[in-house]
Amino acid sequence: MKNKVIVTGGCGYIGSHTVVELIENNFEVVIIDDLSNSSKKTVERIHDITGVLPNFINVDLKNELETNTVFKKHKDAQLVIHFAAHKAVGESVAEPLKYYQNNLYSLLNTISAQSQNGINNFIFSSSATVYGLPETLPITEKTKTQRPFSPYGNTKKMAEEILDDLTKSNHEFSAISLRYFNPIGAHESGLLGELPNGIPNNLMPYITQAANGNIEKLMVYGNDYPTKDGTPIRDYIHVVDLAKAHVIAVKRLLNKEHEKPLEFFNLGTGIGYSVMDVINCFENTTGVKLNYEFTERRAGDVPQLYAATTLAQEKLGWTAEKGLHEMIKSSWDWENNINN
Ligand code: WQD
Repeated sequence: MKNKVIVTGGCGYIGSHTVVELIENNFEVVIIDDLSNSSKKTVERIHDITGVLPNFINVDLKNELETNTVFKKHKDAQLVIHFAAHKAVGESVAEPLKYYQNNLYSLLNTISAQSQNGINNFIFSSSATVYGLPETLPITEKTKTQRPFSPYGNTKKMAEEILDDLTKSNHEFSAISLRYFNPIGAHESGLLGELPNGIPNNLMPYITQAANGNIEKLMVYGNDYPTKDGTPIRDYIHVVDLAKAHVIAVKRLLNKEHEKPLEFFNLGTGIGYSVMDVINCFENTTGVKLNYEFTERRAGDVPQLYAATTLAQEKLGWTAEKGLHEMIKSSWDWENNINN
């Protein structure tokens, strides 16, 4: 009998890569997704990669009744991984209520519906943005969290506080919050990746769209930071490495190996790359010369963010394996494949 995992937002970028790894680790997967920032085609692509068609249910988790119904139907699941959320930092600054309503109502309905149906294991898609402007680097899980610079980031921090209160009151309920640094890259098949539709949110899709001419020029937001080349430094991590960490966290909870009702793990490589490092690596990897221009800093950006990876290594036995070259090559292959 396979263990069943419910994956909310499972048609999204990180969710879909995680569903592939779960299926390849012999889990039965139910995807709940409202397709507000993803496509149903992703379900077929997961089928193409794994040979298994996951159960897909189109539900808006802000709808409490629909959410309760779907969790009642799948009360034989053992665990929920919750990816479903809006994630565009800039948009969240412009439309904070949209982010607080969507990200928090979805979270509250999900954890309420699952615990009402006896599903008491929860993995949360969090973000390094909960650390705000860190006082020291590298960032460990003990680094003090601060008020994030965006409503998007604040919904992640508030979610972790909700989980803290819940696991303190409901001793049946266990959770792991995974704090991602900068996920980039795509599945080696070229069938899954960061959706290239519309205006990208993050650096990598801007680079690949500038490289293939979808956008005229890459704007580099500031080269006057206190870093080696003046551009901000981030800890880029391959989305497949991230997905593999989720499977390990699932097994940790199902095998009751967790040491506290709520655990936090940074998921990064521990290596910081500047924007210019990424641009140079892209040009060397693909042979494509990027058209870019230095402009003003972007509000809310911090000079440097990179992870201490020791806790995930020690407790999960996980470390990221893929380097920047592979992250970039897979992103470029995805962009070319999806546009052909
Ligand atoms: C990276 C660097 C930009 C675009 C955010 C969220 C985080 C996570 C990842 C979801 C920065 C620079 C970018 C461009 C640029 N979100 N940049 N030109 O802001 O580090 O993190 O996305 O999981 O929670 O906070 O990522 O990719 O937007 O930016 O110069 O066109 O690239 O200034 O230094 P960020 P990013």
